Amino acid sequence: MSFCKPKIAIIGGGNIGGVLAQLAASRELGDIAVLDIVEDLAKGKCLDIAEAAAAEGFDVKLTGDHKPETILKDADIVIVTAGIARKPGMSRDDLLSINSKIIKEVAENIKKYAPKSYIIVISNPLDAMVTLMKSVTGFPANRVMGQAGVLDSSRFASFIAWELEVSVKDINALVLGGHGDTMVPLIKYANVAGIPVMEMLERKYKSKEKAVQVMDDIVKRTADAGGEVVRLLKTGSAFYSPAASAIAMVESILKDQKRILPTCAFLDGEYGVKGLYVGVPAILGANGVEKVVELTLSDEEQKMFDHSINAVKELIDVLKELKFL
Ligand code: NAI
Ligand code: 2OP
Repeated sequence: MSFCKPKIAIIGGGNIGGVLAQLAASRELGDIAVLDIVEDLAKGKCLDIAEAAAAEGFDVKLTGDHKPETILKDADIVIVTAGIARKPGMSRDDLLSINSKIIKEVAENIKKYAPKSYIIVISNPLDAMVTLMKSVTGFPANRVMGQAGVLDSSRFASFIAWELEVSVKDINALVLGGHGDTMVPLIKYANVAGIPVMEMLERKYKSKEKAVQVMDDIVKRTADAGGEVVRLLKTGSAFYSPAASAIAMVESILKDQKRILPTCAFLDGEYGVKGLYVGVPAILGANGVEKVVELTLSDEEQKMFDHSINAVKELIDVLKELKFL
């Protein structure tokens, strides 16, 4: 009998791709292969990470290349970060046209060389790039998903933890909707060790009004969190937290953990939406997106969710106008 390690292919060996490779290696999630069009970039990063194996104590194979067939062949899971990152003053939507060309080419290669793989797209604008990936590969919806919600929810949780001065480990926080300014951080479901966050804020400030105002600021900061990092970094966008977020999804799939993670998943009637990729909680396991988890939304949340859905639809319309779909 022989046992194989899963093969994790990472497309795009830039900032996010590099951290993805390092995290996947240090957690020994599988053998790792990184593809970048810049000759030798992926090779260099993989060599650097592999040379840390003895010091860190991990035992996986790392391969870098600029040839898609080498990297994608027999991949079980493919994480796509290829594309350009958002620069100051550039909206996620500005990226649409440039990154669509890249994703189309990447999708064709995945279809050809890794036809049984599960795909997690990270490239922006996220909801549109996942849609395009699904359309070009023709893979079933449970095998094509996007990462954004784990990151947005992690940011939401961090801001709540910092405000309440409690461990972030005890925060449960969820963000729905598209990965853009219209995302919907869910206040009602946010809790600290089971205690509603609003109750904790009201206790802290002894004022319902102040609690609402503080939460409003947290929600606004969450929606702008990507931009906040871009403004500080100046030469690119967040990369550690997006990679860590995708790794949580990869781990849940490869280890069949069945975690409920906010995922850009294909809706087929759930939340009253049909035929659209958007961020919702989903069970991720050995069959990829195994189930979309439906939540009851307040009137206000439903309004915000509808607004976010419309923003995603507008992006998809642009993809259609540009003849990518
Ligand atoms: P980066 O510029 O550091 O890396 C992208 C890499 O892709 C580059 O090394 C480039 O050479 C490579 N590349 C371009 N075309 C390629 C192709 N056809 N095949 C293989 N490699 C190719 O960018 P970074 O920071 O890693 O971001 C990657 C993407 O992720 C961007 O679109 C960014 O906007 C997005 N992003 C998404 C987030 C999310 O939560 N979904 C969060 C943060 C960024
Ligand atoms: C982020 O949220 C820019 O989408 C990227 O950091």
